[in-house]
Amino acid sequence: MIRSVVRGIGSALPRRIMKNSDFAGMVETSDEWIAQRTGIRQRHIAADDETTASLGEAAARAALDNAGLTPDDIDLIVLATSTPNNTFPATAVEIQNRLGMRHGFAFDMQAVCSGFVYAVTTADLYIKGGLARRVLVIGSETFSRILDWTDRSTCVLFGDGAGALVLEAEEGQGTVADRGVLAASLRSDGTHKDKLYVDGGPSTSGTVGHLKMEGREVFKHAVGMITDVIEDVFARTGVSAETLDWFVPHQANKRIIDASAKKLGIAEEKAVVTVHLHGNTSAASVPLALSTAVADGRIKKGDLVMLEAMGGGFTWGAVLIRW
Ligand SMILES: CC(C)(COP(=O)(O)OP(=O)(O)OC[C@H]1O[C@@H](n2cnc3c(N)ncnc32)[C@H](O)[C@@H]1OP(=O)(O)O)[C@@H](O)C(=O)NCCC(=O)NCCS
Repeated sequence: MIRSVVRGIGSALPRRIMKNSDFAGMVETSDEWIAQRTGIRQRHIAADDETTASLGEAAARAALDNAGLTPDDIDLIVLATSTPNNTFPATAVEIQNRLGMRHGFAFDMQAVCSGFVYAVTTADLYIKGGLARRVLVIGSETFSRILDWTDRSTCVLFGDGAGALVLEAEEGQGTVADRGVLAASLRSDGTHKDKLYVDGGPSTSGTVGHLKMEGREVFKHAVGMITDVIEDVFARTGVSAETLDWFVPHQANKRIIDASAKKLGIAEEKAVVTVHLHGNTSAASVPLALSTAVADGRIKKGDLVMLEAMGGGFTWGAVLIRW
């Protein structure tokens, strides 16, 4: 059977680093409160000339370089984002243009923090369906632009950045020994909309709006939702917490990561954690974490890697990849 194998990976971060201590004089908070409740120490914040498209393009170029490919080799770009440059056209098409691609097709996906997990799953199906042979899957966000910088309960949690993968069709045996995307489990439930949303949009207020969150409520649901989809992937593949090599979770909160790993019986040292460096970068968080663990030599060819995410909607999902 056709498998979608990871051929390259890359990431990009805005130049400016904002440390927890930089909130002094902006909102009533402290480095201690933020670090203790979330694990976050710093985040990158986009300057005016840095956008979802420019960060996405930079991550895509890094992934192409890593793969030894050029934009000519790509058939499809899937961009996961909730902070597009414009309401339309899709920012993926802008990235396609920035890369100088005059062939193929590109579109955005919107599943908030689960966006990258949804996008990898979608790209895998396009490859398996024969519509594309090589796909750039990008997660890129500039959440700093939709934050209420006077609301301490949300503005300290998020950051900007981008990450990208190149997936390529390869013949596999149809077993878990294959390289590539092995299984996915996706879910959503719109009854939770009011717990995490943006209070604006083209069809309602006509404005971009600001992020609103009931943090405690999100926290309460997160661990159960994350562990459900991972257990589903375990059941369908026969992979277990013991045989898994790496757990690459959405980077929202260190406490959620620890509690999820503990509930699943995944050893602490298998969890890739970058939340202290990037904060919550929504759809960019999983590829940024992946990129970090590939660059430092932890994730190697042949390793079994579980990606997971949960976010606004609620949406949630998990994808198992043999690297
Ligand atoms: C947001 C979150 C860190 C808050 O931690 P918490 O332990 O639940 O804290 P609470 O919301 O109960 O707030 C505790 C107190 O801290 C205060 N507080 C909130 N933000 C603060 C900040 N930045 N600095 C200092 N105090 C703050 C609250 O006002 C509250 O004060 P009160 O008790 O006087 O009302 C936590 O709920 C969380 O991470 N939730 C999940 C969020 C998430 O992952 N979202 C993204 C999903 S994609």
